[in-house]
Amino acid sequence: MAETLFDKYGGFETFTQVVTKFYQKILDNEQVEHYFSNTNMDSLIAHQTNFLAKVLGGPDKYEGRDLKTVHAPFNITAADFSEVADLLEEALDEGGVEEADIAIILSAVSGLQDKIVSS
Ligand code: HEM
Repeated sequence: MAETLFDKYGGFETFTQVVTKFYQKILDNEQVEHYFSNTNMDSLIAHQTNFLAKVLGGPDKYEGRDLKTVHAPFNITAADFSEVADLLEEALDEGGVEEADIAIILSAVSGLQDKIVSS
């Protein structure tokens, strides 16, 4: 069986770092940081890491809520979605993920847009 992207880059250790960096970028970003003002970031990092692990073919430990239910109250725009996708791209790049694999991951993420954008 082909190696998963999750294993190729070192599993939970690497992706916890990537996701932590991703949310640092989000909290430093004027356009989107306000969405997270009432969020427990430690638990979000844990949920997002598990979510990404599942998307990348790793173990399914995701215990968060359904993405549509989570995001609906925030009225997220397509522009905000695109900004957040750019920050994920930067975090993956800085985490050492190759360009071709980043493209695969971002294409999986853009397939989730309908569940996240509601405004
Ligand atoms: C790029 C694709 C995205 C994915 C894969 C994603 C995934 C997730 C996941 C897995 C959670 C945790 C759910 C839980 O704890 O039960 C979450 C929470 C959250 N997401 Fe996203 N998300 C995305 C985009 C966005 C965007 C664009 C925004 C806003 C600009 C956003 C705002 C939030 C907020 C505020 C929470 C925390 C909600 C809370 O504290 O209850 N997300 N997201």
